[in-house]
Amino acid sequence: MTERKNILITGASSGLGAEMARQFAAKGRNLALCARRLDRIDELAETLRGEHPGIQVVTRKLDVTDSEAVFTVFREFRDELGRIDRVIANAGLGKGQPLGTGYFERANKQTVQTNVVGLLAQCEAAMEIFLEQQAGHLVVIASVLAQRGAPRTLTAYAASKAFAASLGEGIRLHQGSGPVKVTTLKPGYIESEMTARAPKNPLIVSTEKGVRDMIATIEREPKSAFVPRWPWSVVAPMLRIAPDWLLRKVM
Ligand SMILES: NC(=O)c1ccc[n+]([C@@H]2O[C@H](COP(=O)([O-])OP(=O)(O)OC[C@H]3O[C@@H](n4cnc5c(N)ncnc54)[C@H](OP(=O)(O)O)[C@@H]3O)[C@@H](O)[C@H]2O)c1
Repeated sequence: MTERKNILITGASSGLGAEMARQFAAKGRNLALCARRLDRIDELAETLRGEHPGIQVVTRKLDVTDSEAVFTVFREFRDELGRIDRVIANAGLGKGQPLGTGYFERANKQTVQTNVVGLLAQCEAAMEIFLEQQAGHLVVIASVLAQRGAPRTLTAYAASKAFAASLGEGIRLHQGSGPVKVTTLKPGYIESEMTARAPKNPLIVSTEKGVRDMIATIEREPKSAFVPRWPWSVVAPMLRIAPDWLLRKVM
């Protein structure tokens, strides 16, 4: 398999995105990093350039809910690095409240705009570049929560991740055996800013460990995968058949 040298990561200012940037930099890859908090991205880029002098790291401020900006920034990154070999559509928001409790604008809509329309824009912009290059690897970050609807604060988030999983699969089916590869990743619980705000899950793993598994999986370029593989390749399919009372208890 050809090495994907130039990697674009959205949502690289914290959590999984920032750690993927660190671990890909250690593998000698060039990086295009974006998020809304540019100060954080620039600081990370500075550190990575210092630690790995052979690599190129370029940065941009990007709010993925600004669709036009997504296309502009992706093209600027492509022009700056010469080509983009892999896009990791990772930016995501985990804000949510039970529906009907007054949080449409303040939480649920923001989550859906980021994780659904924002993700669609990222995939469109990535695919335009890949189709022009006749090569590329799109990685869609969904979640194990794509498996089932979820109660309480997770309802809109889980629905948005079901969209992500379906979108990734749909793009992959359309591409068939063509030159553009598509992987949908469904992470379980990995430490990040997002999971720090949620009730502690006993199956959570450190950012470093979770992302190590994500990177190994991304490099294999499977159609889709649960990460970390253990225990999620066993637990996630069980979510599909779990009774309602159990889901209400564990989610
Ligand atoms: N951690 C887990 O256990 C887990 C499990 C399943 C799936 N995921 C998914 O993994 C991805 C990364 O999440 P995380 O856990 O690393 O959480 P995180 O630490 O909160 O990181 C989320 C990232 O997304 C960016 N982001 C949020 N809204 C954005 C917007 N409108 N435009 C651009 N960037 C935006 C944030 O950057 P700015 O705020 O600077 O814009 C940040 O860099 C998400 O898609 C999440 O749903 C995580």
